[in-house]
Amino acid sequence: MLYSGNLLFNIQAQPKIEPTLITISTEELSMIFGTNSAGTLMFHHFGNKINDPSAFRIKKSYRRSDYGTDPEGYSTNGGRNFREPALRITHSDGDLNTELIYQSHTQRLLEDSNVQETVIRLKDRKLPLLVNITVKAFQKENVITQSIQIENQELSEIVLHNYYSMYLPVKAERYFLNSFAGDWAKEMGLEENQLTHGIKSIESKKGMRTTRTENPSFLLSLNAPMDENYGEVIGGALAWSGNYKLNFELDEFGVLNISAGINPFASEYHLKKGETFATPEAIFTYSNVGAGGISRNLHDWARNYGVYDPLTIRPTLLNSWEGAYFDFDEKTITDMVDDAAEMGLELFVLDDGWFGNNYPRNGSGAGLGDWQVNIKKLPRGIDYIASYTSEKGLKFGIWIEPEMVNPKSDLAIAHPDWIVKSNGRDMPTIRNQWLLDLSNPDVQDFIFSVFDNVMQQSSHISYVKWDANRHAESVGSAYLDDNRQSHFWIDYTKGFYNVLERIRVKYPETIIQTCASGGGRVDYGALKYTQEVRTSDNTDALSRIFIQYGTNFIYPTIVTGSNVSAVPNHQTNNVTPLKFRFDVAMSGRLGMELQPKDMNDEDREFAKQAIADYKSIRDLVMFGDLYRIASPYDNQGYYSLSYVDKDKKRAVVYGYCISYRGRGLTPKFKLRGLDPDKKYLLKEINKLTKKSNFWGDGQIFSGQYLIEEGINPHLQKMYDSAVFSLVEVE
Ligand code: GLA
Repeated sequence: MLYSGNLLFNIQAQPKIEPTLITISTEELSMIFGTNSAGTLMFHHFGNKINDPSAFRIKKSYRRSDYGTDPEGYSTNGGRNFREPALRITHSDGDLNTELIYQSHTQRLLEDSNVQETVIRLKDRKLPLLVNITVKAFQKENVITQSIQIENQELSEIVLHNYYSMYLPVKAERYFLNSFAGDWAKEMGLEENQLTHGIKSIESKKGMRTTRTENPSFLLSLNAPMDENYGEVIGGALAWSGNYKLNFELDEFGVLNISAGINPFASEYHLKKGETFATPEAIFTYSNVGAGGISRNLHDWARNYGVYDPLTIRPTLLNSWEGAYFDFDEKTITDMVDDAAEMGLELFVLDDGWFGNNYPRNGSGAGLGDWQVNIKKLPRGIDYIASYTSEKGLKFGIWIEPEMVNPKSDLAIAHPDWIVKSNGRDMPTIRNQWLLDLSNPDVQDFIFSVFDNVMQQSSHISYVKWDANRHAESVGSAYLDDNRQSHFWIDYTKGFYNVLERIRVKYPETIIQTCASGGGRVDYGALKYTQEVRTSDNTDALSRIFIQYGTNFIYPTIVTGSNVSAVPNHQTNNVTPLKFRFDVAMSGRLGMELQPKDMNDEDREFAKQAIADYKSIRDLVMFGDLYRIASPYDNQGYYSLSYVDKDKKRAVVYGYCISYRGRGLTPKFKLRGLDPDKKYLLKEINKLTKKSNFWGDGQIFSGQYLIEEGINPHLQKMYDSAVFSLVEVE
């Protein structure tokens, strides 16, 4: 009796909480939360703007509460939530439940009033565990970012199990998840799956090189399969370069519960009294004009906020890798520089193979870790070739892979305790190398010093290609305490960011390309510090169409490096015409990666013209709006895309024949994003001969014609391709 009396007293003593509405908005979108009478933060809406959200105050759910709660604002393991919890904690008293109740929220404008920041403060109903949800609403870009801060004010340590950055419940008739998967040299393949009940997850447990297979990003088409131009789509990505997990859980109420964040896999995180854990940001947006709207919103956000140095044109380049591999001397390099200068390229990148003396880097089997110039190959040092490159009018770039060590290296002998390994177990290598333990501050110092020392080799170094050619496995850290080994995955990634932070303080202008066996580190966590990615090691133009098509759904073209290489292609053996290779590469950040000496005069002349033509439209490629016109997955035999500048005065349109369908067939590319009321002069650029691929070359068209009727270039044979420039005329 006494007990039930107390219980009654407690219930009666609960103050009645006035329901609060929290409206977060951008120019076109709203995200609405509210509290219920028990003080729980509930989720109401994400999508098109609702100017008057007041009905959410009185909205009733017909769901019986013993069936489970309506979706909360941030789901936890506790109360009546039975879904995958966004937050799961073992509290200091052993309690496994968390029930967050609303405390307060604040909203303010940042960054020239373009960013509305909302902080919603929550607290566990029983214990002093504080959780803040920080939501940033980017007004013009119509993008939302969300991160969570978890503060332990309990009497002693707590353990975090799930600590996702976002939880987003969605209600539609049907759900079509579009995500990206692949492998080395076939990254970012687009897959669509209709979701059924249960959980579909996209994840990585590799620790690093995490985007080599799947990518921490998605597009969710509501009600119908995804279309480029029509329909409701929610899309997003996670800004994290470590293990990630994105869950899509369809429950019995037909609600799709999305949670995304750091992967809980083997990653229990201990939080001492007084400590705070901050999650990475999840980034998401909504479009009711199909997938194209998602990409354009994300690209705008990326170019304004998400990518390092977003407003600088990325230079065209010649990379030495496929042209020289490990086999070069000074003359090989200076000849390549001469050729690059002659073709009009702007940067020369010396790839792998330039370092190591006791263990020379003449293959992938030795030298990683020993970042001193190999005096046999380059007796006059880096400065000699970097200065030579500079005298020729090019910038100079260099390759490093600072997180790695070959067993055959001075470093491996000097610092065995820096190597990631499980004591007493095998130490498997991948590509003959081990991983350094970036959770260790000494290793962070070392990696910073690798970058710093390499930069000191010459004042002419302005570009660094940062590679990472293995992932983590058989994990163990000599630095972390035995009962903190599960911190490894998180502390590694944080260590990586610490190093990049330090590098950016000292080297704010250096262009950094992230490469991890190609596209293994394509994520908004790394891009916060870096200008571009090596989209893939696969340089075959046909493969590249699919890889770049996938990558640019989420990441803007300005970051996607795309190199023209030799044929037969070294990865696929495919033979494509040089024009096709250039036309594909010039829809990204154009570069070259071959031995120019092996090109004949005709091909060199063509390359010169292609590079010059690219320079005339690359501002559109890097800063324009992407409109995809024909998908390479549609099986029609064509691929087409375009970039349109913000005031719709200029555009560049690309068309490719990617499989032969019949000599009588021509494509009909209906152009998008143009102003129907403007007139445009159409010119084919990068032509192989004087002959044009389109009867309309040199003609003036109305925007309306180009939108409604489109263009029908003569692309009939395999690997025919064409690039058109459109410029407004009065
Ligand atoms: C990785 C990269 C390549 C090249 C080699 C060098 O495979 O992805 O671009 O730099 O390493 O060893």
